[in-house]
Amino acid sequence: MTEQIPKGVTREKIWDIGLRLFHWALVICVGLSWYLGEFGPDVMTLHFYVGYAVIALLVFRLVWGLVGPAPARFAHFFPWPRKLFSYLGGIKKREPSYYPGHNPVGALSVFAILGVLAVQVGSGLFADPDDYINVGPLAHLVSSEGTRLASQLHEIFSKLILLLVAVHLAAIVFYKIYKHEDLVRPMITGWKWVRRDHD
Ligand code: HEM
Ligand code: HEM
Repeated sequence: MTEQIPKGVTREKIWDIGLRLFHWALVICVGLSWYLGEFGPDVMTLHFYVGYAVIALLVFRLVWGLVGPAPARFAHFFPWPRKLFSYLGGIKKREPSYYPGHNPVGALSVFAILGVLAVQVGSGLFADPDDYINVGPLAHLVSSEGTRLASQLHEIFSKLILLLVAVHLAAIVFYKIYKHEDLVRPMITGWKWVRRDHD
């Protein structure tokens, strides 16, 4: 960093290796699942396998959100209204947030992405498009109405994922260009410039 570092700002290890591997594995597996669902072979075996990998990643994230290091814990970054509005008050300032973890607006998007992915994999398990080939592995447990609903949800939520990922990337570009803060490098190295007076 060549520019002046403000007083009280230090470089700290924020994202642990587990969270970082989770994130980049999720990018690859969600990207692949989406591509295979939309453009892959008619027989969706590979789509199922990559989908199971997404399930495993989400289970890991759930456990990590409960017992992982502080910046990864859900309770630590839950966007309570007071935190959210106080953060929103200063969001237009053209300076880095130096937030020691997910800021409250980012936290909203984290919960939205994880929630939408949970519905996506859940609905995939029960989906049955009536083609006798790509039957979700748990589809036999529910009625035909249930499998139809699951198929519909699976299709709608695949579009929602696209939307959320687009917003996610737009937010990262906003931080980089408008607020002069690079959030991507910390997600790679774990190290982030932070200020501890946010909480
Ligand atoms: C399929 C695409 C993607 C998905 C589903 C996704 C999902 C997520 C999730 C769930 C988090 C929260 C991490 C946590 O669990 O605590 C996150 C954070 C983050 N993601 Fe992604 N991501 C995607 C693509 C990308 C890409 C392509 C980049 C980089 C160019 C990126 C950069 C980041 C950064 C920098 C953060 C941390 C934000 C912060 O500082 O609060 N993501 N992403
Ligand atoms: C993040 C993970 C996933 C994404 C992004 C995703 C995405 C998609 C997409 C885009 C389609 C095509 C939908 C359409 O145009 O009709 C599809 C179909 C399908 N997926 Fe997934 N999927 C995921 C996970 C899973 C999982 C875990 C399973 C179950 C093991 C699954 C089972 C199915 C089935 C059975 C279909 C055909 C159903 C139908 O067309 O109604 N998916 N998926």
